[in-house]
Amino acid sequence: MGEQNNQDTRRRIAFVGSECYPFVKTGGLGDVMYALPRALIEQDCDVRVFLPKYACIPQKYKEKMVYRGSFMMNLCQGGREFFVGIMELVMDGVIYDFIENEEFFSWGNPYTDLFADIPKYSYFSKASLAAMNFMEWTPDIVHCHDWQAALVPIYLKTHFAPTPVGQARSVLTIHNLRFQGICGIPHMKYWTDIPGYVFDYPYMKQGEDDANMMKGGLAFADCITTVSQTYAGEIQTGFYGERLDDHLRYHSGKLVGIVNGIDVEQWNSETDALLAATYSEADVIEKKKANKLALQEKLGLVQDENKLVLGLISRLTNQKGLDLVNAILNDIVDDNTQVVVLGTGDPNYENSFRYYESVHKGKVCAYISYNEALAHQIYAGSDALLVPSLFEPCGLTQLIAMRYGTIPIVRETGGLKDTVQPYNENTNEGNGFTFIDYDPSVLFDCINRAKSVYFGERERWDEMVRRDMAVDVSWKKSASEYLDLYKKLKG
Ligand code: ADP
Ligand code: GLC
Repeated sequence: MGEQNNQDTRRRIAFVGSECYPFVKTGGLGDVMYALPRALIEQDCDVRVFLPKYACIPQKYKEKMVYRGSFMMNLCQGGREFFVGIMELVMDGVIYDFIENEEFFSWGNPYTDLFADIPKYSYFSKASLAAMNFMEWTPDIVHCHDWQAALVPIYLKTHFAPTPVGQARSVLTIHNLRFQGICGIPHMKYWTDIPGYVFDYPYMKQGEDDANMMKGGLAFADCITTVSQTYAGEIQTGFYGERLDDHLRYHSGKLVGIVNGIDVEQWNSETDALLAATYSEADVIEKKKANKLALQEKLGLVQDENKLVLGLISRLTNQKGLDLVNAILNDIVDDNTQVVVLGTGDPNYENSFRYYESVHKGKVCAYISYNEALAHQIYAGSDALLVPSLFEPCGLTQLIAMRYGTIPIVRETGGLKDTVQPYNENTNEGNGFTFIDYDPSVLFDCINRAKSVYFGERERWDEMVRRDMAVDVSWKKSASEYLDLYKKLKG
């Protein structure tokens, strides 16, 4: 298509979200905010990513940012004015515009508590749109991510409707429905200064007294997406719907599931400088042993390439199925099986994993921290990765695992179901071991099935390792689905 090569006809897409690798990342949202814009650039889109300029962004990136301008913006009822600075950084063709305001973004972490976060992200959502107008850059699509950007579709159709950016269509992607941005109506009204009707039941109102940003954003967005087809169906049910299932059923005509990919350059075992030994499909079986031995040494585990190493890399929250793992950890670990946990979060889980490490010294490692480099080494050095989530909108760790030849052991929910084809011992097909019922004994059986292939039918295990490395987990297909969607919304 010749016209796509013409600068002027490129689709202009604005991404608005609260985190983005490598500047700030707490989970998969950060990965998607990094990888999807890059994949869209490959499809000839003009993409700008709007992010808060948090104090915690590493200095090396702050130093590269260039001042693009500043202005004052009304935010609250009563017309309180706030400073908006725009600091820009260009990386591999993607333009990152950081919204600067010391009052809102001076904390060490992106998220603090809802009482502070509601004003912070109200400000951020409005300032991002105001910055687009200020820079005279009018997107075709504003693609918003999670509750922190859920006011954007509302602002577009209210305050900004008569302005240039008001021409844009909005897409709101649900990465995790559990988090919605809820507070009392007066607090939300004060900070957002959004017209009164938006606080009615079809939009933001929830229960008697609350305003829900996600709920309002879903109603106002031109299109809703979520990060797998299965999750798109699940959130319309009571169990997974987080009290918005009826609202989502009502809006189901504009809801689609598009599965996430990963950035295959960022996650590439052939070039990954953090690994003890890089490898490809051709030498994975040998080189994985070197990575395993290095990992065992680093983490104080008994060094033995013949032991099965099960990895778990996760935010430590009940979403991730950790209650199941805790219930059976004593039984999983044996003389031939080790478990490595990397994660932070809920202190109960942090402490229980520390406890298991103390009673199974040399067999269990609980690395309670956030550590990018170690994550790479665990993906490469483990034989299998546990992802037994209670719910999982998409999940990226199972995709990274497959790319590194590490067999995923997953519960069939959300994106885990859509991305891991269960191993079939009759046909010798599939990519991982899966289970359905959220029950410790069912996970235990599933891990035992994996163990029996690993210890009893190693050739088949090794074939699965190579099969997994060959799976296309890139963003290519899904990015083109997003592009089709953008074109449908704005032809
Ligand atoms: P979620 O977004 O629900 O946390 P995902 O599977 O989508 O789950 O993404 C998690 C991302 O965060 C992956 O890139 C994973 O490697 C990374 N990650 C999670 N916990 C840690 C940790 N403790 N240290 C390093 N990386 C982590
Ligand atoms: C969320 C979900 C996770 C998903 C990620 C990126 O944090 O919990 O399943 O992969 O967002 O979309």
